[in-house]
Order: sequence, then C-alpha cells, then structure tokens
Amino acid sequence: MDKTSEVSGFYKLDPRKRLEFVRDFAKLSEEEVDLLQKTGALELEQANRMIENVIGTTEFPLGIATHFLINGKDYLIPMVLEEPSVVAAASNAAKMARPRGGFHAESTRPVMIGQIQVVDVKDHLRAKEEILTHKERIISKANEQDPFLVKLGGGAVDLEVRLMETFRGPMVIVHLLVDVRDAMGANVINTMCEAVAPVIEELTGGRVFLRIVSNLATHRLARARATFSKEALGGEEVVEGVLQAYAFAAADPYRCATHNKGVMNGVIAVALATANDTRALEAGAHAYAAKDGLYKPLTHWERNDDGDLVGSIELPVAVGLVGGATAVHPIAKICRKILGVKTAQELGEVLAAVGLAQNLAAMRALATEGIQRGHLKLHARNVAATVGATGELIDLVAKRMVAEGKVSYDRALAILKELQK
Ligand code: MEV
Repeated sequence: MDKTSEVSGFYKLDPRKRLEFVRDFAKLSEEEVDLLQKTGALELEQANRMIENVIGTTEFPLGIATHFLINGKDYLIPMVLEEPSVVAAASNAAKMARPRGGFHAESTRPVMIGQIQVVDVKDHLRAKEEILTHKERIISKANEQDPFLVKLGGGAVDLEVRLMETFRGPMVIVHLLVDVRDAMGANVINTMCEAVAPVIEELTGGRVFLRIVSNLATHRLARARATFSKEALGGEEVVEGVLQAYAFAAADPYRCATHNKGVMNGVIAVALATANDTRALEAGAHAYAAKDGLYKPLTHWERNDDGDLVGSIELPVAVGLVGGATAVHPIAKICRKILGVKTAQELGEVLAAVGLAQNLAAMRALATEGIQRGHLKLHARNVAATVGATGELIDLVAKRMVAEGKVSYDRALAILKELQK
C-alpha cells in the first residue's frame, strides 16, 4: 500500500509513537531516529506542551555578540541563527559605535492593536459615533478580561474607529489599543477583542467577523541611533560607500528587501534566543517599512559635520518577557539573564540597536571588500565537514581552501583525500 499522511489521532499519540510513524513513513534509519530522540535543554515533555504533534526538538547555534553599549549600559547579546558571520558582524559594528558613545535607544509605551471587523452596518457614520460615545464601556469590558494586567499598569487604554472600503463593500474596523506591559500581547489582545465583539455588534447593528491582533504594531515602536566615526569605519571612502548603499536601498525595493533582511538577521536572532515570536516581528517590520505605500529601509543613514556616519532605526517591536515560550524555554530564560533586560520595552530597544548594528556591518562589508570574504572561513569549515572531514582535519582542509581563495566541495574532497593518505 502507498504510504499516507492521513493518520487519525496522531495528536493523541506519545511523541515516541509519533516518531515511529514518521520513521516508517520516511524510512528513517535507526541512527536518524536516535538523533531525533536526542533532546537538549528543552525536554521532550516541555516541547510536547509547546506545540502539537511533537516528535523531537532541534538545535541551532547560540552565539554571543559583544561590545554592545546601549544607553550607557553594556550588554552581551545572545543570538540564535544558522548563518555564519552575523554574530561577528554585529559585534564588530557595536565595537565601531563605542568611540562615539554606543547606541542611544528609546521606545514607546508597549501598546498593541487588536482589530475587530464589523460588516453589514447600515449607517457607518452613526456606528462610528455610537462606538466612540460608548468607548469607556468597551474599554472596561476589555479590561475585565485581565485585571492582573490592569494592576500592573497595563490594559486597554483607547480605541479608534476606521471606516474602510473593501471589494466586499464598506466595513467598520475598530482598533482596540492595549498596553500589554511585558507580554508580547497577542493572547490578551485576542481575548479582549473576542470579549468586546458582542458589545460592538449591539452598538453598530452590524456583524463581527475577525477579532485579532495586528502585527503592524505602530504604537509599539523602538528607536536606536548611533554615530560611527569615520576612523572607526576605516576612512571617508567607507562612509561614502555606506551612503551609496543606503541610497540604493532607499530607491529600489529589490535592494531594500535585502537591506532590511540584513537588519532582521540581528533582530530575529535575538528574538529566537529569547523564544519570542519571530514571525510577528518579521511581519511587523516589513509592513512598517511599507507603511507609506512604498517599501523603504528600516534604517536611515547620513554624514554629520565631522564626516562621521550617523545611523538610526525605527521599527515595531512586539516582543515579550512573560507568557508564551519566553518564560518556559530553559535556554531562553538563560538568554534573558545574559541580556539582563528588565522589561519588554528594554528588550525592544536592544533589538533596535542590534538591527542598526547589523545593517551597518552589512553595508560596510558590501561597499568595501564584499560579503564573501567574511563568510569564507566558516563556510570553508562547513564544506570540509560536509565532505567528511572530522577533528583537526576540518581546520586543515578549510585553511587550505581559504589560502587558495576558493571553497568548493570538489576541492575539499580532494584536499581531504590528500591529507588522509
Ligand atoms: C545576508 O544575510 C544579509 C545581507 O545580504 C544584508 C545586505 O545585503 O544588506 C548581507
């Protein structure tokens, strides 16, 4: 019989039983099954409570970016990602920011938006008026859902009403604004939106469909800026090169996507280390970059009167320190301790600084020696390991390829064979 993915009750099985099913389906070897069963700090049982249909856990490297000085405080920055050179680049940029005082960061209150979609409204202006007239009633209904959050100084604080044309006709969209304090906030927002929906239906006479957080968190922003002296950067030509790179990104969405990807290399790596929702951040950042109708860089760069390079960044930062995986994942908890952040707002400011550093490092490399040289050493080690080098042979094969200025699987294999003789 052909193998099928149609399996009932898979979710009810023990993770080990699920793995047996997957083993048979994918013809996994015993060695592969053993690897999948190996767990690190995140135990199988914890993982099994985090998502559905768990069969194991997986690992990525955790690196530490150094030299970060943000608002006069020194930080070691844990970063989780699979890409070589990112951690080194962040550290390098942070080092170059220090002579001019490091990064200065600030952020707004942690206010997230919940959206409530109302359709089939007869009189839209009247509906808007009714909602605004009964704003306090809606807000207190929302706050009844989470008295603890209110006690902490958060909770629903305001609402906005938008009238919108869509291809299915006009809609009334209510934005519930909630100060989520140290949470990422999606859960509390969704609960509140669902709770106030009947009140909104009653006030508008319409029908509510969606009640959900918006990842375009325009009320929860972090900003960072830093000055990089031309000496630290390597001279006036480097400043010029970075400005040319920035102008390119500001003019062209093809380049801008990669420019912002570089920013997010840093932001997402820190978010992952702290077990935050990286997809929410990514969606928010790119939507924010396009908020004026054109996709633009998240960063801004200019030369000051001394000829130094001044950079700034602004982006939405829907991150939390409580709730979700952030407070459960054992490594994330340690990463948070290493970071030493006390609030989600502070974490957001760190993310902004890391994003700015990452962008500077990328543009500097691109505008000078190119990106590949920095990648070469680690890439060479990876290639050496992939063709079967182990122990000190990895370094020997990699070094030879780097010296020759060419890294390839064929060459790695040839060198390995030669060394093994
Ligand atoms: C690679 O992960 C990121 C860069 O492409 C960013 C950029 O081009 O600015 C180097």
